[in-house]
Amino acid sequence: MEKTFYIKTLGCQMNVHDSEKIAGILEGQGYRAAAEQDGADLVVINTCSIREKADQKFFSELGKICRTKAEKPDLQVAVAGCIAQQQGRRIRSRFPQVDLVFGPQNIPRLPDLLRNARGRPVATDENPDFHLETVPTRRREVFRAWVSIMYGCDNFCSYCIVPHTRGRERSRPVVDIISEITGLASNGCIEVTLLGQNVNSYGKGLMDGAAFPELLEKVAQIERLKRIRFVTSHPKDLSPELIGSYQRLAKLCSHIHLPLQSGSDRILERMNRRYTVNQYREKVGWLRAARPDIAITTDIIVGFPGETQADFDRTMALVREVGYDGIFAFKYSKRPHTQAVRFDDHVSEEEKAIRLDEVLSVQEDIGEIRNQALVGSKQSVLVEGHVPNETGWLSGRTSGNKIVHFEAPEDVIGNLVSVQITEGYRFSLKGNLIS
Ligand code: 5AD
Ligand code: SF4
Repeated sequence: MEKTFYIKTLGCQMNVHDSEKIAGILEGQGYRAAAEQDGADLVVINTCSIREKADQKFFSELGKICRTKAEKPDLQVAVAGCIAQQQGRRIRSRFPQVDLVFGPQNIPRLPDLLRNARGRPVATDENPDFHLETVPTRRREVFRAWVSIMYGCDNFCSYCIVPHTRGRERSRPVVDIISEITGLASNGCIEVTLLGQNVNSYGKGLMDGAAFPELLEKVAQIERLKRIRFVTSHPKDLSPELIGSYQRLAKLCSHIHLPLQSGSDRILERMNRRYTVNQYREKVGWLRAARPDIAITTDIIVGFPGETQADFDRTMALVREVGYDGIFAFKYSKRPHTQAVRFDDHVSEEEKAIRLDEVLSVQEDIGEIRNQALVGSKQSVLVEGHVPNETGWLSGRTSGNKIVHFEAPEDVIGNLVSVQITEGYRFSLKGNLIS
């Protein structure tokens, strides 16, 4: 009988996309996706290690699954993702029930690992030679897709574990990316999100010498494709050419995620971010000049080692000044192997919690004001699906990546429609279908 698999994905979009690749491989190996974890023959946990909390969540999840295995010895358990990469050996010794462990750079080896599962393999080679782009991808939706354009990161921000789990920065050749997106578009994909830890530095080390704005130009020429997004940008690499893409390319959505992390130059320097608040501010100005309706979202870390009240106040001032459409804010979390663990002036957990609450609550008001300003406007919306528990209501995203709820027949799912915005809330919009 056909074996079934279930993948539990924790963490970022990169992981979600990696899970699509893991699913693609498993289907190629004769497995079938199970609707739920209970009853699946193979459970894969795709882990995240960006902050300690994600780490803890995984270990409690794994404990639960391993207990299930006591009653169901045939169940296979695989651990993938960033924790697998960093703590493969530890997982193996603490949880002998785990059958395979493989890091994000070792996904292409999965067929091999499955064949040799009896030996309980741990695959965490760094910067291996095999290529993720050759792996089949199992995407759940036809109308939108994630496409990796680069892997890894070379920035070594002092708090960040990613360069240690995802390896050195590698860009995919332009022709491969274009051919993947052309294929997707001919199957009905109308929106792509180009993925990388720092897409702005795309092209470094490539033979064909193309930089990110040129890649965007080529993607925009794919006729049936209607929308292009990308994540994530590093402010230091956001060039005037790339900002100019917002002027030149109508298909480029009116949104940028531009992680600020801190509004204090002193902290930015300790974070090894390599830009100043003034440079960041200047780029925001250029972006708004190039695309006046651009939505800007960001990431903020509160309580980085050495962050004083005055440093935090500078972050708050910048949050107010920029007027973000949304922020993700995190309490600083110590990560192994990063430079910041060696800094000794750590901010207390209580103080971090106070700062986090403050930045999130100020942003809620700013977000609401920004969303209310859209009331009366007509937005192009890509319809994604049903609003849970609200019969007849659908949900989609504007070009600015804002969620809109509106009443419409379900056959518009997967299409671009026009919606007149009637209400603006803290985290979403409401509107009426026009066409
Ligand atoms: N502690 C808290 N937040 C972190 N991030 C990355 N590393 C850490 C850490 N050690 C945040 C950053 C990054 C986002 C993806 O996660 O804000 O932009
Ligand atoms: Fe981490 Fe910095 Fe690289 Fe982003 S740019 S993945 S924060 S090291």
